[in-house]
Amino acid sequence: MAFTVAVDGPAAAGKGTVARAVAEHFGLAHLDTGALYRAVGLKVLEGADPVDAARSLTPADLERSDLRTPEAADAASKVATIPEVRAALRDFQRAFARRAGGAVLDGRDIGTVICPDAEVKLFIIASDEVRAERRWKELRERGINVTLADVLAELRERDRRDTTRTDSPLRPAEDAIIIDTTHLTIDEAIARAVAEVEKRLPPE
Ligand code: DC
Repeated sequence: MAFTVAVDGPAAAGKGTVARAVAEHFGLAHLDTGALYRAVGLKVLEGADPVDAARSLTPADLERSDLRTPEAADAASKVATIPEVRAALRDFQRAFARRAGGAVLDGRDIGTVICPDAEVKLFIIASDEVRAERRWKELRERGINVTLADVLAELRERDRRDTTRTDSPLRPAEDAIIIDTTHLTIDEAIARAVAEVEKRLPPE
């Protein structure tokens, strides 16, 4: 049975955490689609052509330890504006979404473009300040030294680029369930998401 949960939202709102937890809870496969764009972005920083990089992506590219750096995030958001890059990554994401056993995909355009027929669509948001603080703490814990002001500015710039691009901009699908995590703990956000998926699971 194919059962797809789409989890979209802006940077650092908690969609990765929610998507992983929902996948674990229901025994579904999980795909972090941002990692695809980050891997392409890193290759472009190393001199590759963005479209070639997207067409030749390998599983090893998705295992790189530098995927979660601010440089990779910025490069990802830039290559993500190129329609040919998005097209090159589309079939893989759609096939993953419809795999037997069900899947959770998190990204920016899962509920709108990749899986418009997803059984559940979640759109995770939080205030700019809270998102910046979460991301700043995460980066500091990993030994990456950045100021909170720089993280906030980078998030806003990335949101601006992701929401204003012509191809598949970040926006909630009409039938998406909005979860605002600004005042929620991680466990509360996960519980909210799990409850929404539970309601829509097909009867056994
Ligand atoms: O989710 P993330 O922060 O890892 O994503 C990095 C960038 O990749 C994001 O700023 C825009 C792009 N992206 C996208 O355009 N579409 C997706 N489905 C996922 C990510």
